[in-house]
Amino acid sequence: DKGEFKHYMLKEIYEQPDAVARTIEMAVDNGDTVKLRDDFLQRHEAQLSGIRNVQIIACGTSYHAGLVAKYWFESLIRVPCSVEVASEFRYRNPVVVDHSLVICISQSGETADTLSALRDIQKHTPAGLVSLALCNVPTSSLVRETDIFLPTLAGPEIGVASTKAFTTQLVALMLLILKVGSTQQRMTQEHLTTLIDELQQLPGQLYASLHLDAPIQAMSEHFEDKRSCLFLGRGLQFPIALEGALKLKEISYIHAEGYAAGELKHGPLALVDRDMPIVVLAPKDSMFDKLKANMQEVHARHGELFVFASEASQMVAEDRLHVVHVPDVCETLAPIVYSVPVQLLSYHVAVMRGTDVDQPRNLAKSVTVE
Ligand code: F6R
Repeated sequence: DKGEFKHYMLKEIYEQPDAVARTIEMAVDNGDTVKLRDDFLQRHEAQLSGIRNVQIIACGTSYHAGLVAKYWFESLIRVPCSVEVASEFRYRNPVVVDHSLVICISQSGETADTLSALRDIQKHTPAGLVSLALCNVPTSSLVRETDIFLPTLAGPEIGVASTKAFTTQLVALMLLILKVGSTQQRMTQEHLTTLIDELQQLPGQLYASLHLDAPIQAMSEHFEDKRSCLFLGRGLQFPIALEGALKLKEISYIHAEGYAAGELKHGPLALVDRDMPIVVLAPKDSMFDKLKANMQEVHARHGELFVFASEASQMVAEDRLHVVHVPDVCETLAPIVYSVPVQLLSYHVAVMRGTDVDQPRNLAKSVTVE
């Protein structure tokens, strides 16, 4: 039931504060003590304490969640992490080193390539292998075939374009990293406490980011007759740029590419002209000054910039530079909050172009054949 909403996708975008809050509560008490719940993944502590390496396998939007997790695993707890799309991984005879945690991320838990990649790894049984399903469907094949089930408590997702499954995947991945980090003593108590504190602010920040709906709808009018679009980000926002481009192309049928902003000079800058909208994810973080230089490069070539920036960035609109201010959020969790404006943008562009938002042409919700 879509209730008051015109599409399932919009309803699911709006459900994110609750879905994220539920997913956080699975690991963190709502009470006064800022710590992980004793029962969170407790049965698996011995398995998690032995892993030395992480291999993430997924497709599409779930793959983008894996890319964010790679930055987190390596920067926060110094555990090496590789991420690959399942359709490539399964056919290239990859090396899975001993003591790997293999994380399969899948909303449906029935994606054929992801399941096959997992089965291939299990056949080779590297020493100390631990497999984990990060999944929204507890009864799925993926959950049955893995050692550990880490649920996303998003609730059923009907829209083909994944929204609340993605943000809850990110939250669950962060919770897992906190668990591995504390089990293996790879992070200080203080750091752990800070991150849990920040996690608990997320539902409120997501709720506040939904207020951007109206300004983003106004912004979307600039995209109606466009043929192609670039999404730029750096660091933790690079995967969100990829996700923004995927969302836009899948529901509005406008060609879009996500790029690491530092790669501009290595090719995509040649595309930039007056007809090229460029969406930039620009929180005021450690990469902001470099990103600003990238924006100037694009602006100087007459590109039209659509920037999602924090208040703290003090960015102001000018000619061919549109700015929407996103609620302030800590750098580590910013990719979760910045997912909302890119979802809303693609939604409004698609509605304006009159495409079938919930059932885009040629696509299926669950890809059970390769
Ligand atoms: C895009 C989208 C797809 C899925 C992909 C994997 O909005 O939804 O890219 O993310 O088909 O599906 P799951 O997560 O079910 O394995």
